[in-house]
Amino acid sequence: MSSSPNAAALATAQQQGALQVVDGRTGRVYQLPITDDTIAAKDLRQIKVKDGDFGMMCFDPALDGTVVTRSSVCFIDGDRGILNYRGYPIDQLADHSDYLEVAYLVLHGELPSVAQRAAFEAEIRAETRVPESMVRLHEAMSPEVHPMSMLTAALAALGGDFPDAAIVQDASNRRRQIVRLLALTPVVAALGYRRRNGLDVAGILPRPELSYTGNFLHMMLDQGGREAQVHRAFERAMDALLVLHAEHELNCSTNAVRAVGSSLVNPYSAVAAACAALHGPLHGGANQAVLEMLEQIPSVEAVPGFLASCKTGDRRLMGFGHRVYKNYDPRARVIKELAEKVFEVVGANPKLDVARALESAAVRDAYFLERKLYPNVDFYSGLIYSAMGFLPRIFTVFFAVARMAGWLAHWDEMLDDPKNRIVRPRQIYVGHARRDYLPVAQRA
Ligand code: ACO
Repeated sequence: MSSSPNAAALATAQQQGALQVVDGRTGRVYQLPITDDTIAAKDLRQIKVKDGDFGMMCFDPALDGTVVTRSSVCFIDGDRGILNYRGYPIDQLADHSDYLEVAYLVLHGELPSVAQRAAFEAEIRAETRVPESMVRLHEAMSPEVHPMSMLTAALAALGGDFPDAAIVQDASNRRRQIVRLLALTPVVAALGYRRRNGLDVAGILPRPELSYTGNFLHMMLDQGGREAQVHRAFERAMDALLVLHAEHELNCSTNAVRAVGSSLVNPYSAVAAACAALHGPLHGGANQAVLEMLEQIPSVEAVPGFLASCKTGDRRLMGFGHRVYKNYDPRARVIKELAEKVFEVVGANPKLDVARALESAAVRDAYFLERKLYPNVDFYSGLIYSAMGFLPRIFTVFFAVARMAGWLAHWDEMLDDPKNRIVRPRQIYVGHARRDYLPVAQRA
């Protein structure tokens, strides 16, 4: 509703919990209802200069001032460094829970009872196998393909094995696909790892007696039936890393799963889109980039020079900064402690010393302080994977295996909402006005 600006309109706006907007172009006053500190973008559309105008919109290229949903999966307070999954603080979950329990929590909203946990584990186990289609796909891919590209392709292709996955509006069918994806993602990820590392992909079988994480490690590392010896501390560290990466609200890849899933495509295609988004170095690819960065810093003595180069805009200090956290990333704190434990097992590592020196210099440096840049989840995670013997190219795959729970929780929550509509942003067109086609001979 619009009117001339006056004290009465302002009083009504205050009374009704509305935002009073004066359009300087027309002098008209609008009262836009406020709910949860937001105004609805559609309410802006009434703001027009003349009838027939499209109406006002909000320009927000990186979507950081735009709310797209109400969600109960995850709470983040970036200024205070808080991350809770379904209300539970991340450090408590990392210390006391395990990945499968956290996946259940993220997906179902509550921690499972003993019986619920057993039933969930049995469901996952029943779907854990090596699909023939995935063996053929991985054998056809060059070992040179990045493991994240392999995983992206494989997740999309996996949908071909489950034609029933297309019925995404049926909640029980969605649940069936969620269990399948949780069961099969580590299997497919392990096939990519094996392909990349020259290990056979046809002969490997899951071992149902192992934990979720234990089986994932087995499927990657088993060599010709010779059981891989994985130190207990490594399995525990890997599981804790999966917990820490399981969910993180509407990050780039979760936004991708929602945007693509809003078209009602099957979940295998939707999570393949998320996987592609995660691969980028500004998102999940940062864990690989951190290790590659640490390899360029020969010693602790070289840290000041390297840090200086990160302040010129020529490069970024990878593993630092976050769109939401303007304080220490609570996951980074847990990971740092985890790294210390793993290094107690494997012994000293000069890269850990360099990382510690980088962190301690950066958190005192005016450039990083002014911009509120602190270590994020990926600053130390790559060091742990590396200490366990993994090469950087596989790190982001571990992130994807973990984040599957979060992606699917948001996908399910979105499709459960009867008001869900296809995601379709707008643009400001700045190109040519209409012009006529010219045959090639007539073009200048
Ligand atoms: N090193 C150096 N400078 C940085 C860094 C960094 N890591 N991050 C941000 N800045 C600077 C920017 O240059 C900019 O400086 P300016 O104001 O002088 O221009 C300022 O800080 C703000 O940066 P933005 O790019 O606006 O921050 P944004 O919120 O868009 O980006 C991001 C967040 C992408 C995480 C960024 O901090 C970054 O590139 N970090 C390194 C990559 C990384 O670790 N990504 C993992 C994120 S966690 C995850 O996805 C799992």
